[in-house]
Amino acid sequence: RRWQDILSLQDLEPLARQHLPAPVFGYIASAADSGQAMRSNALAFEQFDLLTRVLRDVSQVSTETQLLGQTFRAPIGIAPVGLSALSAYRGDLVLAQAASAHGLPMIMSGSSLIAMEEVARQSPQTWFQAYLPGQMEQVQALIERVKHAGFSTLVITVDTQAQPKLEFARRSGFSAPLRPSVGLAMQGLLHPRWLLGTFLRTIVKHGMPHFENNYAHRGAAIVAKNVTRDFSERGRNDWKRLQAIRDMWPGRLVIKGILHPDDAQLACAHGADGLIVSNHGGRQLDSAPSPLRMLPHVVKQAGKVPVMLDGGIRRGTDVVKALALGAQLVFVGRPCIYAAALGGAPAVALALQLLRDEMTRAMAMMGTNHVHEISPDCLLHPHAAWA
Ligand code: FNR
Repeated sequence: RRWQDILSLQDLEPLARQHLPAPVFGYIASAADSGQAMRSNALAFEQFDLLTRVLRDVSQVSTETQLLGQTFRAPIGIAPVGLSALSAYRGDLVLAQAASAHGLPMIMSGSSLIAMEEVARQSPQTWFQAYLPGQMEQVQALIERVKHAGFSTLVITVDTQAQPKLEFARRSGFSAPLRPSVGLAMQGLLHPRWLLGTFLRTIVKHGMPHFENNYAHRGAAIVAKNVTRDFSERGRNDWKRLQAIRDMWPGRLVIKGILHPDDAQLACAHGADGLIVSNHGGRQLDSAPSPLRMLPHVVKQAGKVPVMLDGGIRRGTDVVKALALGAQLVFVGRPCIYAAALGGAPAVALALQLLRDEMTRAMAMMGTNHVHEISPDCLLHPHAAWA
């Protein structure tokens, strides 16, 4: 592959579309319903301009960031993406490896095909994301297992009360697990690099992947019963449940999927150590507002609790805009998976490096040397009058 052709995160999607079978690409690229929420995530960043300041010494620009007791090389991380080992060989391990090599956080998805213990062993600083099972005993067993694996930060995703309608994924022939068919076999043959390098290599070396890998708990009263997909059970979760988790989990607790400022306040009142403003990359409620739009309102309600954001981050300038509106760190979803599929850990590292370089360049042009100098004063709404 000609790496020099990849100049930005936006170059990854068309290459991944060629490399991956249609159902696998369809699953990643898909959004809920008509894709309005996903489009508005990207468009929200275009609503703001960044103001330059000149003739300031910017020879020492640093993107270093402190968050939740950890120091990161940049305020950029990898969002949790389910089934990543379907598109990239050993997907979660590759993503965690690239992130830790760059000193950046990575959130492992609870809907992974790789056991959490394996990722924790390889990259102990990885954060673990869980969906809440419907039964309290299942929640308890899950938390025990996450604790035992050695994770220090638990991310609970709260925006999947109902199963989304991912129409593009369905039209592309995606199902979980993938259903064998002539069409699927054809797709495999048309994408031999993926077939041999990811799919068959996984099966030969590690056996058939198990969807419920991270929810089955040996010895506890938990059955490997579609926990991640059983949305009727998931719909039962409420703030009382979150409080119970807070009481059980001694590590850092981050709540992902907050948009309403009142929910931000509730999450903080229930003991959250951090919030991720997110509409799940536009994959849950179509017409949900973009996280960037809600960010300043959430930040106001969150008080001292750090607020992070994901959805539509593709450029260094997007990172700077989110920071200017109060985010402490942003996560990137789809582009990291595309990179992992195309070229494993080195390609993910390249994607993260591109984003960090763009951010550094933007900070220099804005006359800022440190992330804490990025403030609302750096932003200009295109339609607003100056001053
Ligand atoms: C996701 N996302 C997600 N979130 C989560 O909390 N747990 C999960 O298992 C998944 N799975 C998942 C799969 C795929 C294929 C995608 C694209 C996304 C949502 C993800 O963490 C994040 O919120 C968005 O992807 C961010 O938007 P961008 O960067 O993809 O625009």
